Order: sequence, then structure tokens, then C-alpha cells
Amino acid sequence: MEDYNRILDDILHTVNSVDTPGNVASYIPELAKIDPFKFGVSLQFVNGETYNAGDYDERFSIQSISKVFTLSMAIQCIGDKVWDRVDVEPSGDPFNSLVQLEHEEGIPRNPFINSGAIVICDILLSELENPKDDYLQFMHDLQGSDKIQYNEEVFKSEKSMGYRNVAMANFIKSFKNIHNKPEDVLDFYFYTCSLDMSCVELAWCFQLFAQHGKCAPDGTLFLEPNQIKRINALMLTCGFYDESGEFAFRVGLPGKSGVGGGIAAVLPGEFSIAVWSPKLNEKGNSAKGMHALELFTTHTEKSIF
Ligand code: DON
Repeated sequence: MEDYNRILDDILHTVNSVDTPGNVASYIPELAKIDPFKFGVSLQFVNGETYNAGDYDERFSIQSISKVFTLSMAIQCIGDKVWDRVDVEPSGDPFNSLVQLEHEEGIPRNPFINSGAIVICDILLSELENPKDDYLQFMHDLQGSDKIQYNEEVFKSEKSMGYRNVAMANFIKSFKNIHNKPEDVLDFYFYTCSLDMSCVELAWCFQLFAQHGKCAPDGTLFLEPNQIKRINALMLTCGFYDESGEFAFRVGLPGKSGVGGGIAAVLPGEFSIAVWSPKLNEKGNSAKGMHALELFTTHTEKSIF
């Protein structure tokens, strides 16, 4: 029987003893204020056993991890029609790249790069009467309380500086793959990215992907197992942008990162795990977070491979 408390404590000490290079995201000015030395982890098995270490209870900006939740909602709304609007291939380019859109007629490579998530937000804007409220309600249902909220400072900060996303939304609109006004789509997209969540809350919400579509608080089926299979496959192949291969190679779990320094991942049928450490490597993924997850799957031999 593994002593997971000890394993997580050992990982915490190991990652904290290495002077990991990297920088806190600064292109969203509000994120530059975060203490770069934070580190938290929460491991939650599908039977409810939970193990935590470090700053596991402190909330941080989930940023691109939101892309998994908005994709889940879009699939709930329109099912397979989502795939007429976004592709399912790794991009091999940075998360905020525009280059492929020009040759691929405004169809983003996948829903986990910015262009793909912006199209997903456009779908939700067309389908939902109150997209922001419905998104927050989706998160509250997943988490089983109404504690998760958006961070207004982060939202405004990104909205005031998000020039590249503005260019991207307008460019996609020129190919007619955005149906609403680009400014409305971006207002919703920035909102989805600006939620603050802790490692415990994230790992709990990621039980959806560990439990084949069941919502952890009450066991309701939110998505079909086959839809979760696809989302998990996309997390494995596209969840870390142009570092997805490296993450699969080193960690071996489907997961999703955000520039707030969070990473959430799952071993389907077994556990979800969320880590947070704000310093990012050059690809925009949490440097210590990746290191911690690599240590975890290597030591426990718990990966999908
Ligand atoms: O749109 C952006 O640039 C941010 N709101 C989210 C980017 C992000 O988290 C990419 N992560 N690695």
C-alpha cells in the first residue's frame, strides 16, 4: 500500500530544492504579481481518497485549464457538431499562434489552443442565453458548491492587454468561423479564463474526466463515456500546446495547463491530480508542475502507459 502523503511531501521537497528556471506570466499584468515560489498539489482517487501538500488550498488563476470546461459545455450543447468548427490535431505551435489559421480557413487545429477556445466560446455564446452565468453554474455543479468565482482584476487586466486574442478573433471572423461579434466572444473568453480555483477544487472538478463523465458531487452523468474518451485524448495530444509530446513522454497522463501555473491531469478510472507552481517554462507550462507530475508517475508507475 503506497503512502501517498509521504510521496507528495517528498515531491514537494524535491521540486523546492531545485532552482527551476522560468518566469511568472507577465503578458497579463495581474498575473505578474503572484509569488513565483508557491507550490501546491492535490491527488484525488475516484473512491474519494484525497491527499494534499503545500499550497493546495490557495486559489490561483486557472487560465487555459478553462478550455477543458468550455469544450465540455459545448459538447453538451451541440455534440459532434463541435468538430465542424474545430479540428482535433496537435498544432505544434505556441498556444497563441495565428499562422495555421490562414492556410486552414479559420478552422483552429484543436480546442485547447487560444484560437480553438475562442471558437468554442463563440459556440457557447450562440447556444446559451446567459453564457457567463451558465459557465459559472456548470463549475458550481461540478464542484458541488458556489465557491468558485471569477477574478475581476485578472479579467480586466487581460481584456485591456489581449491584443493578440483580439487579432485572432477578428481573423477567424473573416473566415466566418465566428458567428457573434468578436468583442462579445472575447469578453466571454476572458471571463472563462479568469476563474480562481485551488488545486483541491481543480482536482475535484477533474473527477469528471477520471470518472468517465460522472459529476463527482452527486454522480450525475454530465457527458457520455465516449465523449470523455475524446476529451481525454485531446488533453493527451494537445493539452500542453507545442510541449504536448514532452508532457506525454515525461508524465504520461492526459492533462491541461494554464499560464497561471496550474496543471490538472487524470488517470481515467483511478485519479485526478492538480498541481500549481507559477513559474512557467518557455512553452508557457508550469516548470515545477511538470517536474512534480513526472516524479509522481515515475515513482508510483501510475500513468496511462
Ligand atoms: O488567452 C490567453 O492568452 C490566456 N487567457 C490563457 C493562455 C493560457 O493559459 C495558455 N497556457 N498555457
